[in-house]
Amino acid sequence: MTTLPTTGPVIRVQGLRKSYKALEVLRGVDFDVARGSIFALLGSNGAGKTTAVKILSTLLKADAGTVSVNGFDVTTQAADVRESISLTGQFAAVDEILSGRENLVLVARLRHLKNPGTIADDLLARFSLTDAGSRKVSTYSGGMRRRLDIAMSLVGNPPVIFLDEPTTGLDPQGRIEVWQAVKELAAQGTTVLLTTQYLDEAEQLADRIAILHEGRIIVNDTLAELKKLLPPAEVEYVEKQPTLEDVFLALVGDKK
Ligand SMILES: Nc1ncnc2c1ncn2[C@@H]1O[C@H](COP(=O)(O)OP(=O)(O)OP(=O)(O)O)[C@@H](O)[C@H]1O
Ligand SMILES: [Mg+2]
Repeated sequence: MTTLPTTGPVIRVQGLRKSYKALEVLRGVDFDVARGSIFALLGSNGAGKTTAVKILSTLLKADAGTVSVNGFDVTTQAADVRESISLTGQFAAVDEILSGRENLVLVARLRHLKNPGTIADDLLARFSLTDAGSRKVSTYSGGMRRRLDIAMSLVGNPPVIFLDEPTTGLDPQGRIEVWQAVKELAAQGTTVLLTTQYLDEAEQLADRIAILHEGRIIVNDTLAELKKLLPPAEVEYVEKQPTLEDVFLALVGDKK
């Protein structure tokens, strides 16, 4: 790999277009992602989030526009892009028959890394899976699977990671566990691009939030700036009711 640029955006998307036959999904998408930040791409079902992530991760060809990741062009330098990224898809890609540790060791071997066992143990610890490490993945909860899935994508320390709807289908506790893992990643300098349908997820995690709607990015800003788009809140005196999430967590407790 050539020397990495240390300044400028780590992901740059300009004029990106993609259609599936007559269906125009991306109609000129532009955005930049700063190195070491968490960027959330928000959009409803069918907005084109997965399509965009697939193009950024070289799995799908764009019809038009330019995309660079870690300084490499996704079309002309696809192999360099692949070395710079990892992708955790919308549906978990873990092997059910293997244990969590075996899954990690397998990925480390496939990537020809030294000391696959040590890498696996480090990642299990980072994602609070040490105790469950020797158990078959088929016995894991949804949150544990997702965490393992993300851990697997970190084998080899890629500088950029794509997470496509990392918490869809998880219960509140599982979501919080995944959020914690993502925050830790970014704290260590990894750039994270995640897609989500959940406003609260973007609110919790993202340094910048972009909304993909009808094929274009309609807003792209920090949460603080996005909040200013709404009319100022009126002050009201009401008794604060706990949310359903508060109640659920109070009853279920933090079993981690
Ligand atoms: N291979 C394909 N062939 C034809 N149409 C497709 C294909 N993949 C996606 N689409 C369509 O393109 C649109 C965007 O799909 P995409 O999966 O990118 O959306 P998304 O924002 O990820 O949605 P979700 O939130 O449901 O995951 C949808 O209307 C979808 O049906
Ligand atoms: Mg999707």
